[in-house]
Amino acid sequence: PVLVVDYGAQYAQLIARRVRETGVYSELIPHSKSVEEVIAKHPSAIILSGGPSSVYEDGAPQVDPKLFEAGVPVLGICYGFQAMAYALGGTVDRAALGEYGHTEATVSDATGILAGSPATQNVWMSHGVAVTKAPQGFTVQATTPGAPVAAMADESRKLYGVQWHPEVRHTELGQQLIENFIHKCAGLESNWSTEGIIDEQIAKIREQVGDAHVICGLSGGVDSAVAATLVHKAIGDQLTCVFVDHGMLRKGEAEQVKHDFVEATGIKLIAEDASDDFLTALKGVTEPERKRKIIGEKFIRTFEKSTREVMAQAGEQGGEVKFLVQGTLYPDVVESGGGDGASNIKSHHNVGGLPKDLNFKLIEPLRSLFKDEVRAIGTKLGLPDAIVWRQPFPGPGLGIRIIGEITRERLDLLRDADAIAREELTAAGLDRDIWQCPVVLLADVHSVGVQGDARTYGNPIVLRPVSSEDAMTADWSRVPYDVLSRISTRITNECRGINRVVLDVTSKPPATIEWE
Ligand code: XMP
Repeated sequence: PVLVVDYGAQYAQLIARRVRETGVYSELIPHSKSVEEVIAKHPSAIILSGGPSSVYEDGAPQVDPKLFEAGVPVLGICYGFQAMAYALGGTVDRAALGEYGHTEATVSDATGILAGSPATQNVWMSHGVAVTKAPQGFTVQATTPGAPVAAMADESRKLYGVQWHPEVRHTELGQQLIENFIHKCAGLESNWSTEGIIDEQIAKIREQVGDAHVICGLSGGVDSAVAATLVHKAIGDQLTCVFVDHGMLRKGEAEQVKHDFVEATGIKLIAEDASDDFLTALKGVTEPERKRKIIGEKFIRTFEKSTREVMAQAGEQGGEVKFLVQGTLYPDVVESGGGDGASNIKSHHNVGGLPKDLNFKLIEPLRSLFKDEVRAIGTKLGLPDAIVWRQPFPGPGLGIRIIGEITRERLDLLRDADAIAREELTAAGLDRDIWQCPVVLLADVHSVGVQGDARTYGNPIVLRPVSSEDAMTADWSRVPYDVLSRISTRITNECRGINRVVLDVTSKPPATIEWE
């Protein structure tokens, strides 16, 4: 793999994604690993990421110069570049001019990582420290007003460094720089493709599972759907999917899973309609955390019941259920500190904690993938766009989008309003611009309106369209007024009891995306 050594950069994951876009597999590794550990992974090339420190400060993470003697091509970016220059005897100092954002780089040597570059290019920078003198053996390839050495190369040792961020889209020729490093400098060929990942995972799943039975909890979301489809491709009817309908899904969602998904994949599915059970348990409950607890707990009990059914059936056929499929993605793995291999499950993240006596081994076929790769695989495996491009939806569903008690009537009303908002956003072609758009019913709030010359006293609906990269932070989406206007008109006309539609214009933080 191409190893991206993470020095605490905002953009380390982005670097790995950009490398994969060149068709070469890439992984992240923390900077705390020793050179021996790094080399033991047989990297075909190494990229040192940016980071928040200054190399000459006490406690700043350093690069062990031995790394540069291993014969592996290395590219340093921003902090990684400075750490490389420092370790090899160059000079790193406070920059005469800090550069944050767009900067023009003057390129004097358009070879190596800068092959094909024009004499000047627009780059994106973020630094207050600069390399003022390149280490011996290096050629200075580019400068900017604040960086006397903005790019450098030692072709004979295959060592390269750049002060700007080639991984961000604001650097116009950034991807070209990364491609140059991967293909021209490191001489790596493209072999990481959707088809390749699918074939590799199928072989791996077959080997791991043998003739055992496998269970997968479907949420209706992209990740579990793609993971299940991949496992099904590998082992066919040894897989059973379990889908719990808690009665708080969006319009058409249960049908989408029960029909469209099954039709597209031919997967064996147990669908449990537990809505009565859930709604009875939620009667009179208004406090958000209590709602979540009750829904989570009920979910486990229902999932457990279905799972026991599957296990009993497998037992009758003389088999045993040993594996549980999970749609864990690479960012989850990185965020929880890495770690390889399958572990025994104690608590199930997506379904909220399984009982201890259900002792499964995990199958996580998407563990090394980013969301965009998962979507590409879903499409390749024949899943419909409606599933592959589905926006995130919380486990507790519409239950946490009704502010007040959850009742069947309120759920139906919110389902209709939500369907209208989704229809109009889709018709306006905004699905892929908007991260998600919760539609919230303020069930305990009433306001006065006038409809057909008569006074009304109805509930407001809140629209909460947000844009985000990862749901950790978000901004409210600037949805065009005419689209908002259509949504508002249709909701007040078509949803009885709603006489007002309001727009949430708060970022996260301070607000969260969901209202509860
Ligand atoms: P918040 O409201 O915390 O939401 O800003 C961040 C993202 O997480 C989703 N969300 C959930 N997803 N189970 C889930 O699977 C949950 O209990 C849950 N609560 C919030 C939310 O839709 C948003 O995408």
